[in-house]
Amino acid sequence: MTLPSKAKIVEVGPRDGLQNEKETISADVKVELVDRLTDAGFVNIEAASFVSPKWVPQMATSAEVMARITRKPGVIYSVLTPNMKGFEAALAAKADEVVIFGAASEAFSQKNINCSIAESIERFREVAEAAKQNKVRLRGSISCSFGCPYQGDVSPESVADVVRRLRELGCDEIDIADTIGVGTPRKVQAVMERAAKEFPIERLSGHFHDTYGQALANIYASMEVGIAIFHSSVAGLGGCPYAKGATGNVSTEDVLYMMNGLGVDTGIDLDKVVDAGQFISQHLGRKAVSRAGNAIAAKRAG
Ligand code: HMG
Ligand code: MG
Repeated sequence: MTLPSKAKIVEVGPRDGLQNEKETISADVKVELVDRLTDAGFVNIEAASFVSPKWVPQMATSAEVMARITRKPGVIYSVLTPNMKGFEAALAAKADEVVIFGAASEAFSQKNINCSIAESIERFREVAEAAKQNKVRLRGSISCSFGCPYQGDVSPESVADVVRRLRELGCDEIDIADTIGVGTPRKVQAVMERAAKEFPIERLSGHFHDTYGQALANIYASMEVGIAIFHSSVAGLGGCPYAKGATGNVSTEDVLYMMNGLGVDTGIDLDKVVDAGQFISQHLGRKAVSRAGNAIAAKRAG
């Protein structure tokens, strides 16, 4: 099948990428990271998360970060909101989009958000209604769509079931997430095709962690079946606190390098993303987890 001519890349580094860092990262650094990403041309940046600071301490500065970033008109700055407390904070922070995040696996739902899938949908219902009332975009995210660290296999049917419930809540976009990076291309295509029977494919996205090195192949495979929205993290930052051993999201630099080579337009300046990746990696005191990013930086250094 032909690939899409354009893809939307949602940069999730400031949230998914940083949430698992043990050392506290100052709001100054987070703000500079988001501003650099805005300047690179992303149309959607997941900037923060309004969750319990006891559960995810690194995101405790989210209100300050949202207040201090320089917003570019038209760019969607998204935040995670597991419940009404999170939603109220998101509204006060003038988030453009709120993300309700559930799972296709019961065990992961319990570990991540302390409730069953059915209970999570009930919690999300009031967030969804409030988002609609306040004209805030609503996105739904489904963890463990290709496998779960606690229960193992996850069937395409259980993903489809959550997609349907999130559609009923009025989500504008739904993320099919590989939290622990276990998916492989044919399985990914099967799940995406099943999900697309429940929700318009142009509003489904692929959120791939690169734990097993499959993420680029999975993105390519997703494009073959018509998916054109992908999440990635600058410098390959990340990991989920409730998925042991889960490494970062696929690196944005690697995704952009592939998209550029394929002629898939993203509207993003790869060089500026490489700079942002080097900036945050230097700050964290380690090398970027991005093959393309490090190769481009090395080439520049001559
Ligand atoms: P709970 O303990 O069941 O909730 O946690 P609770 O309502 O009983 O509240 C407990 C305490 O948390 C209370 O404080 C609340 O005020 C506070 P206390 O009275 O004890 O001092 N609280 C909050 N504080 C700030 N903001 C809030 C909030 N809500 C409650 N919104 C809860 C339930 C969902 C809150 C908790 O489990 C939680 O925060 N979990 C965070 C999970 C998380 O952030 N995981 C990582 C993000 S998901 C992810 O990375 C996956 C994704 O990338 C896709 C993929 O890769 O799969 C999206
Ligand atoms: Mg994630």
